[in-house]
Amino acid sequence: MSAIIMDGKALAEKVKDQVRAQAEGLARTPGLAVILVGDNPASRVYVNGKKKDCAQCGFYSEEYALPVETTQQELLGLIETLNSREDIDGILLQLPVPAHLDEQALLHAIRPDKDVDCFHPYNVGQLMIGEKGFQPCTPAGVMRMLREYGIDPAGKRCVVIGRSNIVGKPQALLMLRENATVTICHSRTQGLKEECLRADILVAAAGKAGLVTGDMIKPGAVVIDVAMNRNAEGKLCGDVDFAAVQETAGYITPVPGGVGPMTRAMLMENTLLAARMHG
Ligand code: GUN
Repeated sequence: MSAIIMDGKALAEKVKDQVRAQAEGLARTPGLAVILVGDNPASRVYVNGKKKDCAQCGFYSEEYALPVETTQQELLGLIETLNSREDIDGILLQLPVPAHLDEQALLHAIRPDKDVDCFHPYNVGQLMIGEKGFQPCTPAGVMRMLREYGIDPAGKRCVVIGRSNIVGKPQALLMLRENATVTICHSRTQGLKEECLRADILVAAAGKAGLVTGDMIKPGAVVIDVAMNRNAEGKLCGDVDFAAVQETAGYITPVPGGVGPMTRAMLMENTLLAARMHG
């Protein structure tokens, strides 16, 4: 058996077309401000992608590419200005920020109604209690992919590997909201293989190339690879040994072309939602 490959790239294009059509119906153009501090090459690639997505969706976008020595005060001042601008619906601070900055304090300074990443404690709390509003882009992209492929998490065993605030924890919450039975595994988990073998849906978000091998997969399972690693040859890869796992899994996401494009599409949805809220 060979798994169905879940095409995140194609689905993301469809989502962005829908976002564009909906944005055209608004009285005002949605606006996104992206802040990048320092010269992390991966972050530069991500920010370029986000700007391209904005153009594709008919959004206004602004980029603040700031030097690595930018101070906390300067950033707080910029965020405050963007918070009060009526043409800016969403503010995204690209992570990671340089070590001298207080990342949490910066994220908490973004007004919750402009927090299109869904990192502010208010939005995290709303997510926790199941209220409507922003959802973090990567976990939301995973849920959208499952829906598109007709996979209902209800009653299924879902194992999430990774407990980050950006992916692992919110992914588990969204799976729970869809009535899955959820286990979160992490670096201190004992018997990771046995946990994974029980999973009907496995979400790998550990950031460790080759972590998930073919012998860890329940036949027919849905395997979602969220990670973006570089292997020994410098090639982009996820946490999952794709070639081996696709022999056993029922569905699998590729890296690249799986969850990554969906994350970007969900950012566009969140920006549209912010623009709607701002009227
Ligand atoms: N860096 C890596 N992933 C993300 C993300 O989802 N949002 C932001 N702001 N920075 C990131």
